[in-house]
Amino acid sequence: MELKIAIENRKSYRVYSSRPVEKNLVKEVLRRAGRAPSALNVQPWEVTVVMGEELGRLTRRLLRAYRERSVACTPGAVRPLPERFQERRRESFRPLVELLDRERSTLDTFIGEGSCRFYDAPVAIFLCMDRAFSKDRYLCLGAFLGYLLLAAHDLGLVTCPVGLIAAYDDQIREHLNIPEAKKVIIAVALGYADESSPLSHFATPRDSLENYVRWFM
Ligand SMILES: Cc1cc2nc3c(=O)[nH]c(=O)nc-3n(C[C@H](O)[C@H](O)[C@H](O)COP(=O)(O)O)c2cc1C
Repeated sequence: MELKIAIENRKSYRVYSSRPVEKNLVKEVLRRAGRAPSALNVQPWEVTVVMGEELGRLTRRLLRAYRERSVACTPGAVRPLPERFQERRRESFRPLVELLDRERSTLDTFIGEGSCRFYDAPVAIFLCMDRAFSKDRYLCLGAFLGYLLLAAHDLGLVTCPVGLIAAYDDQIREHLNIPEAKKVIIAVALGYADESSPLSHFATPRDSLENYVRWFM
């Protein structure tokens, strides 16, 4: 697939087919993700892949924690965001909210609960980083994540990054035996698309360059 096409067409899927993903295909996605750049080529990412019955056990645990904690899906701001960011959020998800209205679900429940079960994708990939690294190195995991999403798309798979699970870092680490010294940064749901669901036709727009680029020349 041409890179341009992968970049234009990749999007997050929140409904998955039950078709399993071959382990070798997951390996290829991760190998390509590992081609991402990182500061001094330290490659700070550490990856845990969960699939099959183990994923079922983990999602049941996360759903229990979700019901107890009810973590809302927020853009992770430490103070009120400028209006244009809030507007993007509202506008981006408006079509999804309309689709959900018909299914009698709210956006918060759909995203909050859906994220905790990785939208029933057959594979969940956890990206972790040793706490010895400074937060600046999150950038390297961001690059890894971007490569991973595009590599998966190129291989005919679909994905959804799931940052919300960071709120359940303790549960995930205990379940997957990840030491306290590692932080669970983000997960990715991975699988095949279920194009029969109207929810799979939801896509987010992007702002135009003029609204976020300044030039000096
Ligand atoms: C760091 C990060 C965290 C995200 N966390 C979640 C999440 O917890 N749940 C979810 O459903 N989507 C999550 N997403 C997906 C975004 O909502 C999605 O990328 C955004 O709306 C743009 O849509 P697109 O991926 O379809 O282009 C996350 C994306 C990123 C980059």
